[in-house]
Amino acid sequence: MDLCHDDGMGGSGTVTSTPLDSSSLLWRWAGDMRIAFTGGTAGLLQVMDPAIGYALIEHSNFFADPVDRVFRSLPPILGTVYDDPATGTGTMVRDLHRDIKGVQPDGVRYHALNPTTFWWAHATFQMMVEQLVDRYSHYRLTDAEREQLYAEGVQWYRRYGMTESVVPPDRAAFGREWDRYCDEVLAPNPASDHLMKVIESWTIPDMSASPHLPVPPALAPGARKWLPKAPVRAALAPGLRLSIYGGLPPQVRERFGIRWTRVDEAAYAGLQRVIPLTWPLQPVPWRWHLASHAGWKRERGRLPRPW
Ligand code: HEM
Repeated sequence: MDLCHDDGMGGSGTVTSTPLDSSSLLWRWAGDMRIAFTGGTAGLLQVMDPAIGYALIEHSNFFADPVDRVFRSLPPILGTVYDDPATGTGTMVRDLHRDIKGVQPDGVRYHALNPTTFWWAHATFQMMVEQLVDRYSHYRLTDAEREQLYAEGVQWYRRYGMTESVVPPDRAAFGREWDRYCDEVLAPNPASDHLMKVIESWTIPDMSASPHLPVPPALAPGARKWLPKAPVRAALAPGLRLSIYGGLPPQVRERFGIRWTRVDEAAYAGLQRVIPLTWPLQPVPWRWHLASHAGWKRERGRLPRPW
């Protein structure tokens, strides 16, 4: 069976083609380092899909290091947006998944290239970008821009060379499918249980050893010096929990028994006020993920000031 093709789940595949280049909204936002505040939610929502959860348990070092996988994956994922499409970054990413398959304990078979499963992983990345704009920037998308950002996200997905049969045709249909997935498909599994324990721990994991730590080169020595220290990791833990759990749809928090109080809600609102105010104080290159630098320089000759 060609797993890149239809599994019969009825999408329309009729999203119109829209340019995905330096004039696009997706370029404006996908490489903005504020994805650090929404990427954790995307990662957790992926792991909450049992197919992805069991795939990670069986095909990666997820339990030993649940974070490095995210850091390692981000450059090719963002590269699919910013690299010259002729380099084939997207299809290279897809082909990494050809052998990621198996059988869940309940007997259900999974394959990373199952169209619905692969689409869900991508859907969380699209939401990661949209949520960064809505929650961590002062920019307000118009309805037309939200639709455009969605269509550009579909163009991003096209670069993986997967079937579009399951891809919702517009932003409204995406929202409905997103809700259905959250209500019916996501389910607690050993990988999501483990990740939630990591998120709820009193310190964040020591990420300093990761060769893929997404910090600007100038900050890397400081990060490697301070991140192993328990008090630093303890100080960062509440913000990590807040940003990841705050980004979850409320019904997911409820279904997974995640405690979320009014105090959490207020603190999360505070985070969303502070980040847009303080973020512009950083130098421009620090505000762009390294995976976007070459693309901007190729197309514009320099890194633009993020919005
Ligand atoms: C848009 C969809 C997806 C994208 C963009 C993506 C991206 C990636 C990338 C870039 C890597 C390589 C990381 C490295 O360099 O080691 C990777 C590895 C992996 N992916 Fe995906 N992935 C997607 C969907 C999925 C799905 C649906 C599953 C499971 C059902 C999955 C399971 C895995 C596993 C198990 C690995 C190996 C991780 C490891 O070596 O630790 N991925 N993915």
